[in-house]
Amino acid sequence: MDLTKLSALADRVKDRRILSLFDDPERASRYARSFDGLYFDFSKTNIDDETLTALLALADGAGVEARRDAMFAGARINETEDRAVLHTALRAPEGTVIEVDGQDVIAEVIGTRNRMAGFADAVRKGRFTGQGGVITDVVNIGIGGSDLGPVMGVKALRPYHDGPRVHFVSNVDGAHITDLLAGLDAETTLFIVASKTFTTNETMVNAVTARDWMAKTVADPGAQFAALSTEEDKTSEFGIASERVFGFEDWVGGRYSMWGPIGLSLMIAIGPDRFDEFLSGGAAMDAHFRQAPLADNLPVLLALVGIWHHQGMGYATRAVLPYEQRLERLPAYLQQLEMESNGKRVAMDGSDLPCKSGPIVWGEPGTNGQHAFYQLIHQGTDIVPCEFMVGARGHEPGLDHQHRILVSNCLAQSKALMKGRTLEQARQRMADRGYEGAELERQARHRVFPGNRPSTMLIYECLTPYVLGQIVALYEHRVFVEGVILGINSFDQWGVELGKELALALQPVLDGEKSAADSDGSTRALIDVIRSY
Ligand code: F6P
Repeated sequence: MDLTKLSALADRVKDRRILSLFDDPERASRYARSFDGLYFDFSKTNIDDETLTALLALADGAGVEARRDAMFAGARINETEDRAVLHTALRAPEGTVIEVDGQDVIAEVIGTRNRMAGFADAVRKGRFTGQGGVITDVVNIGIGGSDLGPVMGVKALRPYHDGPRVHFVSNVDGAHITDLLAGLDAETTLFIVASKTFTTNETMVNAVTARDWMAKTVADPGAQFAALSTEEDKTSEFGIASERVFGFEDWVGGRYSMWGPIGLSLMIAIGPDRFDEFLSGGAAMDAHFRQAPLADNLPVLLALVGIWHHQGMGYATRAVLPYEQRLERLPAYLQQLEMESNGKRVAMDGSDLPCKSGPIVWGEPGTNGQHAFYQLIHQGTDIVPCEFMVGARGHEPGLDHQHRILVSNCLAQSKALMKGRTLEQARQRMADRGYEGAELERQARHRVFPGNRPSTMLIYECLTPYVLGQIVALYEHRVFVEGVILGINSFDQWGVELGKELALALQPVLDGEKSAADSDGSTRALIDVIRSY
């Protein structure tokens, strides 16, 4: 089985209604799997037994299991950067043995985690203070993988937040840091500079702005800075004492890094014990991914559904639709995880990919999205597979009724996408409202929903730190499986480099230190326009 055969399988089913598959009374249970409180339903897709068998053969033939085992064993599977891929070590339970080049890595991971916990506790309990007293505000300065994971996690776990206020600055746009600093007291603020490389332009520029701001009020600004990085020389050059530097190794990719030092802001917000629960959820998903047969393996099934929709059915994008307001940054987090990992046009060996790269991922929490872009999802000409997720319970005491409304909306949307509304039904509605003749026909056509639009549903009990850990690890492994099947290296990101280089080269031109003569005609013209204001 190879990827190119998927479109033939798709042709076979393209005129079939998903709803007709429910003639099988067992469909809902046969096309769902559960693990450790997570329930993944993929029955509302056009996947049938033949397709599922073919997709599982695809995963098997691509060597997903061998590649997975190589990743967990610390092999250098990130071949273009010659690195191991071991973010899973950051959440591995004590007692696990993982070696890179014959060296155990777990002792150091646990040592750093304990140091982080000591520091987080000291900040939370007022043993580490600012120059004006107990720390009231923590600001994480970072971007991409050094921002999106902690932001997403801090928002997601708001009900567990019992530490100081936590804020995030990422954009080099000075508006971001200015608006934040306006509400802060330098004497009781802790800055955390989060950057794997400690060279990322946006982060370093914002870190200097923060330090200058602090220096106006505080005698020793560096004393209220911590750093999270693989580059400890650079953190000390910046003036951050080594006891507040939390390092990690190059085998942790930026977008996979929220489990370790990059998660410090989250740990300070919810406390080390809750952070451990988050890690345990991730570790439980790791164990499932390693042990469950492909046909019952949640990350594998999520990946295969994604491959089917993108490579087989040809749907260009997929929407992630959490019915959980606190997961409002999950779509942004997944955009980096999925698109920076699998948005690549060459295979591991440098040859052109014989298929499409990973899909475009986007989304927004429900019910807000319903009042924005669901129009296109229901009636547009492009089909967007939707990934719904919802908790059986909310966190809000006394607002159970609102949670039930939320759940009804989530279930109703997936049902509407599958069933749609026929022209006949639409005509009947308009006739009931008194329309007749050509006007009835015209109005009815606008009210038709083609339906037969696929969706999946992920249900969990309640969004706890443990469940968040499960969900994040689930998606990480899903991206991994998709990458293996596509033949992509999911762990490098060369596609971000060119823009960074060109921006650095243009900076002196915009500073007026260099002429624009070397630039192309379009860029020169745009620079002239900007200067003309
Ligand atoms: O520009 C992309 C990227 O390299 C991401 O992969 C990474 O998460 C982000 O920039 C931030 O990098 P760093 O943590 O080194 O500042």
